[in-house]
Amino acid sequence: MPYPHQIKSFEEYKAAYKKSVEAPEEFWAEIAENFTWKKKWDTVLNWNFEEPKIEWFKGGKLNITENCLDRHLETKGDQPAIIWEANDPEEHHRILTYKRLHEKVCMFAHVLKNNGVKKGDRVCIYMGMIPELAIAVLACARLGAIHSVIFGGFSAQSIADRLIDAQAEYIITCDGAFRGAKDIPLKSVIDDALIGIRFVKKVIVYTRTHTPVSMIKGRDVWWDDEIKKVETLGLHDFPAEEMDAEDPLFILYTSGSTGKPKGVVHTCGGYMIFTNYTFVNVFQYQPKDVHFCTADIGWITGHSYIVYGPLSAGASSLIFEGIPTYPDASRFWKIIEKFKVNVFYTAPTAIRSLMGHGDAPLENADVSSLKVLGTVGEPINEEAWHWYDQKVGKGKCPVVDTWWQTETGGILISNMAGVTPSRPGWATLPLPGIQPVLLDEKGNEIPETAGELTTGNLCIKFPWPGILRTTYGDHERCRLTYFSAYPGLYFTGDGAFRDKEGFFRITGRVDDVLNVSGHRIGTAEVENAINMHAGVVESAVVGFPHEIKGQGIYAYVIYNGREDTDDRNRKDILATVTRIIGAIAKPDKIQFVKNLPKTRSGKIMRRILRKMAEGDTQNLGDTSTLLDPAVVDEIKDGRL
Ligand code: WTA
Repeated sequence: MPYPHQIKSFEEYKAAYKKSVEAPEEFWAEIAENFTWKKKWDTVLNWNFEEPKIEWFKGGKLNITENCLDRHLETKGDQPAIIWEANDPEEHHRILTYKRLHEKVCMFAHVLKNNGVKKGDRVCIYMGMIPELAIAVLACARLGAIHSVIFGGFSAQSIADRLIDAQAEYIITCDGAFRGAKDIPLKSVIDDALIGIRFVKKVIVYTRTHTPVSMIKGRDVWWDDEIKKVETLGLHDFPAEEMDAEDPLFILYTSGSTGKPKGVVHTCGGYMIFTNYTFVNVFQYQPKDVHFCTADIGWITGHSYIVYGPLSAGASSLIFEGIPTYPDASRFWKIIEKFKVNVFYTAPTAIRSLMGHGDAPLENADVSSLKVLGTVGEPINEEAWHWYDQKVGKGKCPVVDTWWQTETGGILISNMAGVTPSRPGWATLPLPGIQPVLLDEKGNEIPETAGELTTGNLCIKFPWPGILRTTYGDHERCRLTYFSAYPGLYFTGDGAFRDKEGFFRITGRVDDVLNVSGHRIGTAEVENAINMHAGVVESAVVGFPHEIKGQGIYAYVIYNGREDTDDRNRKDILATVTRIIGAIAKPDKIQFVKNLPKTRSGKIMRRILRKMAEGDTQNLGDTSTLLDPAVVDEIKDGRL
């Protein structure tokens, strides 16, 4: 049996779930036995959600890369660990076997060491989707450094904020990245980020696009030069640093309802076990299957289901550098054909966008290798679900709708492919180890027997190994954000429906966080960026339904700057947001208004703005508490 804890039937699922609730420590300890430990743990679990304090397998010593690489060498050394497809379909793909990946990770770990990186140091990684990104991540883990990957779409300012927050003294980047028809500069963005930052000691630059870059003496070094030094010395192995299960593995910044992104911290042991367990069970991965997750490694989905989950399971994980519509909308399907992909995992936004291109691109490709389809990142509408199921899966591939978050490390609520029932638009049942509850507006738990269909705020009442441990440098913020709204529970920020069978349908965020194309963006963050523009007096940002992206960004702006056309002012504001956060946070619509609807105490009534952005100008609810109800009519008249 290749995966001893792979659940094979609905009955087995029920039994596993029952055990995970009745004897969680025993349940997870049994699973943990299947990994390579340098020393066994002292205690399976210590926890309270009040501080919060969460420790899994404390005292256990391991290195996650031994589990992702070394332990597969004997049996799977010549199997592909990473299959890489370039942005340009004409460029040759690359395959790194487990042996080769192991060697490359070890050599790059030497490079990091030679450049001064030590266990516990924070290393920022800002690269395109190339194998070297995974190699950089794993090399940090090999050496015990804490990686903080920043998605390539973030601006210099965002990078600077994250570097400062994590006090990251080392950076790994590329000259540039290829994405569709574009060359995206990366090193020059890093240079901009570093203008006011003195503490960064080294920047290691991988050559990908041959874009000219500035290299600062003493600080900037070329990846290839550094590798050559290691090669000359014949250093092809690197002893894996001994880590405690609870030592941090990485930081990943994510948006919340306040203006400043938080550095979510995951640790070595629990995260490894949880991503592995969920990978093997949700996707029902079988040895030699080719797994293709289209997320960027800059997001949690890439961390957990391109790198750590698949590699810890000895899987073949496909990394794609480009975008689904380049050179045309058949690209994903062509990749599936080329590498005989078996498991395909993508976001509803990509599905909706490809659905918009009709069925022809699919008809020109042979996707018959597919066995399992997955979605993640946002609620999937039924139309997109059926298209995915029928046109891509030809009605023979189970579709798994996987609900989870950066903070949860791995999938919490999802069907398991072909094992537990699926239902369009529903994430369905919690995985073993996950105890979800719904809370009503008063904060009371809604009993499971409450009726046919109940709805409330989604919380989890018991820790699982992949839960976040803290937010970097500010534990109190972690407590306030996740553990204080409902004492004793982890609050997800999402709302959900539950039916009488215990199936969950996630409805989306109930806080001021938007989900644009599956990317989390805080409204406060966007407002702060808009307000940085010299002509802006005040702004309010809300989401509105967007056919492709799920949600779009609608900004109401009070402007009192240079006299110009609205169009040019809009462009200036967009340029400002791109500078401060990055292009991913650009509002889709900017409406200039004279006033914002406020209560007498000065609070913006977002509910009203949201309604109007959604196109509903009739049911604005109670507007009597407004300081000046006339504001609403003015905004209504100027709707975009
Ligand atoms: C949303 C991505 C509905 C949700 C893994 C969550 C989903 C946020 C689903 C986390 C799903 C994720 N159905 N909504 N299957 N998966 N979400 O941190 O609102 O980037 O809170 O993690 O995405 O986004 P994050």
